[in-house]
Amino acid sequence: MSRIVLVTGGGNGLGKAVAGRFRSGGDRVIITGRNTDRLATTASEIGARPITCDATDPEQVARMADELGADLDVVVNMAGGNTDLDQRDRQGTQLEQVMAAWRANLEANLLSAVLTTTAVLDKLRPGGSIINIGSIGAEYASTSYGAAKAALAAWTAGLSSTVGAQRLTANLIAPGYIAETDFFHGQLSEQRRTALIEATHNKRPGHPDDIAETTYFLASDGARHITGQTVHVNGGAHTTR
Ligand SMILES: NC(=O)c1ccc[n+]([C@@H]2O[C@H](COP(=O)([O-])OP(=O)(O)OC[C@H]3O[C@@H](n4cnc5c(N)ncnc54)[C@H](OP(=O)(O)O)[C@@H]3O)[C@@H](O)[C@H]2O)c1
Repeated sequence: MSRIVLVTGGGNGLGKAVAGRFRSGGDRVIITGRNTDRLATTASEIGARPITCDATDPEQVARMADELGADLDVVVNMAGGNTDLDQRDRQGTQLEQVMAAWRANLEANLLSAVLTTTAVLDKLRPGGSIINIGSIGAEYASTSYGAAKAALAAWTAGLSSTVGAQRLTANLIAPGYIAETDFFHGQLSEQRRTALIEATHNKRPGHPDDIAETTYFLASDGARHITGQTVHVNGGAHTTR
């Protein structure tokens, strides 16, 4: 049966790979993001439906949910990224700048998923899946980005316990370093890239398909008893034992 799948941040990077994977499996896919042009290009490339939506804006999220229609089977909260890397000028005193920087990461990585999930929860049909995208940064990076992704993981576990009775699963995928996305905004030095690859057991960067395949599996019939978990996809750069 063709499912209805929502991928936030589906216009490029990991979101595009995930959306493409569900499309190639025969599912109907809706992708969201802030960049309307890029979203439209990706949508026509992979055969998805684009809806422009800033996942940190409650009004836009509510409108997006209205446009979706009555039913949904899978929501992938991919929208996010480290807002410290976007080099936006922040105004005010030092403390005000710290607060603005933390709020930006919490909004982009935690509240985006909370708002989207809340807005679409009553559309999700039994057997459906909520898949949030965290980061290996939640384990190591003592930054607002790492803290936001750690909070997202904690919230996902709690969410699982509240949606389980509706026969929904809620899991978080924590990617390690994945190449071929815009995540680093061109700021990843060759030295740092080499170190990230060296930290893996299999000595390679992650590929968007690594995340796409894991996401597809977590939404499959074979994964109905996997819920409330953080699934690490990092080539061994972080192990759970
Ligand atoms: N690549 C990695 O190494 C890595 C590692 C760990 C975790 N992650 C996580 O994986 C996810 C995808 O990142 P990526 O590597 O694919 O980076 P990317 O290429 O920069 O993609 C980020 C996506 O998120 C969307 N987005 C960001 N803020 C949004 C907002 N407020 N509302 C709606 N969409 C928003 C962007 O679209 P618009 O700009 O059009 O809004 C874009 O499609 C992120 O959550 C990131 O934290 C990535």
